[in-house]
Amino acid sequence: MKNDPAPNPTLDAMLAAQRIAFAPVMFQVARVMRNRGVLKALQRAGRSGRTPAEVAQDTGLSAYAAKTLLEASLSFGLVECAGARGERYTITRVGLIVENDRMTRINMDFIHDVCYEGMRHLDEAIDEGKPAGLKVFGEWPTVYEALPALPPQVRESWFAFDHLYSDSAFPEALPAVFERRPRTLLDIGGNTGRWAIQCCTHDPDVRVTLLDLPGQLEDARVNVEQHGLLGRIMGTPIDFLDHGQAFPTGFDAIWMSQFLVCFSEADIVQILRRARAAMGDGTALWILDTFWDRQANEVAVHCLHGSSLYFTCLANGNSRMYSAADIKRCIDEAGLTIDAEIDNLGLAHTLLRCRRRDVGG
Ligand SMILES: C[S@@+](CC[C@H](N)C(=O)[O-])C[C@H]1O[C@@H](n2cnc3c(N)ncnc32)[C@H](O)[C@@H]1O
Repeated sequence: MKNDPAPNPTLDAMLAAQRIAFAPVMFQVARVMRNRGVLKALQRAGRSGRTPAEVAQDTGLSAYAAKTLLEASLSFGLVECAGARGERYTITRVGLIVENDRMTRINMDFIHDVCYEGMRHLDEAIDEGKPAGLKVFGEWPTVYEALPALPPQVRESWFAFDHLYSDSAFPEALPAVFERRPRTLLDIGGNTGRWAIQCCTHDPDVRVTLLDLPGQLEDARVNVEQHGLLGRIMGTPIDFLDHGQAFPTGFDAIWMSQFLVCFSEADIVQILRRARAAMGDGTALWILDTFWDRQANEVAVHCLHGSSLYFTCLANGNSRMYSAADIKRCIDEAGLTIDAEIDNLGLAHTLLRCRRRDVGG
């Protein structure tokens, strides 16, 4: 029996470093293996696997393309060699996840369609504190002004990514937010109206006001109309970066979902102060967000750290995926107190309930 080679930490580190060096190639190979049906063909073949010639036949790829992709995928962990002479390829557990896992698919599409080209401009983005990668799509100060005008595929991948995470947490957040039966709710950064529509479905008496940029409010209006909720959900345009613009007052609850992540820490404090100024004595401010120091496993932490640089290079140039510790400091600076928190909602969220510090608990 062959002995396992002695552990060699330097060689392991060299391999990890080469995985970084070739990561963009690995990424594109995995994406093409998925999109061109190679992974599907291997999954169907099961343990018996397929030869490169059979994969070429299954997928319509040339023999050269099938062989090149399969050989590279050996090193990238998507496939293994099987058969007496190692001439057949089988799909690995990683390959199965790339092919079938929804989150992986949405993350890969987001990285390819939204981030891939722009990430070349990361140096410029960190030097200037601007989303320098956004110029691959056009000239806008942030991705949020760009959203209505982005190419359809880019928009689709952006919304799929945004919705994947928030959709997973909304159903679990609803009972907490509606425990005290708010009659009016201000949805700050309400985007396409998904949360507002779920609120109105959950509670027939609630009315929701969305604050967002005009382009997003137009998308929201179409969705709200489709759900027959125009009488209960309304939109008010705003630029949250104009700190002179006060928020409307008189709401039982204020809601911010995956929102603070779009701003620098200095802007977050200003925005929270404006929210505080709009809060009555009984108003609850709810913050639903993904904090990398609150995750149940390494997979979620990796996704959040990976997404962080999208904010730097494509979205706005000055925000990131925050830790709960950073956001709690901003909440405190804004004169607010957290009176309830729930971790592990949906895929990766924490829900914070805040009140004005000057109001008794
Ligand atoms: C990441 S999305 C989150 C959307 C939604 N709340 C959710 O949970 O899916 C952030 C939202 O904030 C809005 N937003 C970002 N910057 C803004 C600004 N300066 N003024 C107005 N809205 C802004 C965006 O248009 C977008 O709808």
